[in-house]
Amino acid sequence: MPLTMLIWPLPALLTWALAWGVFLGLRAAGLGAVAAFVLALLVSGLPAWTGRTPWRRVFMLAGFPLSLLASGAAGGLPAWAWLLPLALLLALYPLNTWRDAPLFPTPATALRGLAGQAPLPDGARMVDAGCGLGAGLKALHGEYPQARIQGLEWSWPLAALCALRCRFAQVRRADIWAADWSGYDLVYLFQRPESMPWAMDKAASELRPGSWLVSLEFEASGWAPQGRLQNVDGKPVWLYQAPFRRR
Ligand SMILES: C[S@@+](CC[C@H](N)C(=O)[O-])C[C@H]1O[C@@H](n2cnc3c(N)ncnc32)[C@H](O)[C@@H]1O
Repeated sequence: MPLTMLIWPLPALLTWALAWGVFLGLRAAGLGAVAAFVLALLVSGLPAWTGRTPWRRVFMLAGFPLSLLASGAAGGLPAWAWLLPLALLLALYPLNTWRDAPLFPTPATALRGLAGQAPLPDGARMVDAGCGLGAGLKALHGEYPQARIQGLEWSWPLAALCALRCRFAQVRRADIWAADWSGYDLVYLFQRPESMPWAMDKAASELRPGSWLVSLEFEASGWAPQGRLQNVDGKPVWLYQAPFRRR
């Protein structure tokens, strides 16, 4: 079960326990305090990425260093080491993405049937705008195995890990709102409800007629979808084909 499905604050408690486990294990194995601290932070950074809100991410990541400080077990750490949690959080989530969506992966079956409702020729260009760790890219690749798929992701560690996981795609670090969408036949988004008006405005002015904007979970209110998929409870997929029609 994904950590985010657990009742809060269980995800935070499990993240802290994981960090402590790694820290104590590495110390017992003879690793220095700084190296064990950094590795424990990095390991607990993975679940902390999935926190549902910015504050939850902060709690999940900060619990271990704060409890380490309070426990007095941090004796061997230099003062600068305490800046590492902040640096890690900012690297994972640069400030401008805090108003956008945190990391939630596309469920593996959510896009099943997309190619049937939005057929595209081999070699079509598509993008997962905010590709996270690549779950959406994998789902797109499953539907359109011959497509040229790109991923744009603002957080550089996520972009780097995603590029490693999705060799079939071209992944780069970019701001999806500053990127040019005009060359794509399909733009896939899993962002936030608040982002949908910007996304529709941008797509309406940049996408060529016949291209698709596909949104997981969040509908663009006021616009008529050409199609809808419902493979996963609570995660409908909304399909809008340019030129978009008002309801
Ligand atoms: C809900 S997750 C979706 C991840 C991926 N699309 C998937 O479905 O598996 C949203 C992702 O968008 C990224 N993001 C948020 N704002 C962004 C922006 N302005 N530019 C690029 N990526 C952004 C976040 O870092 C996060 O990884």
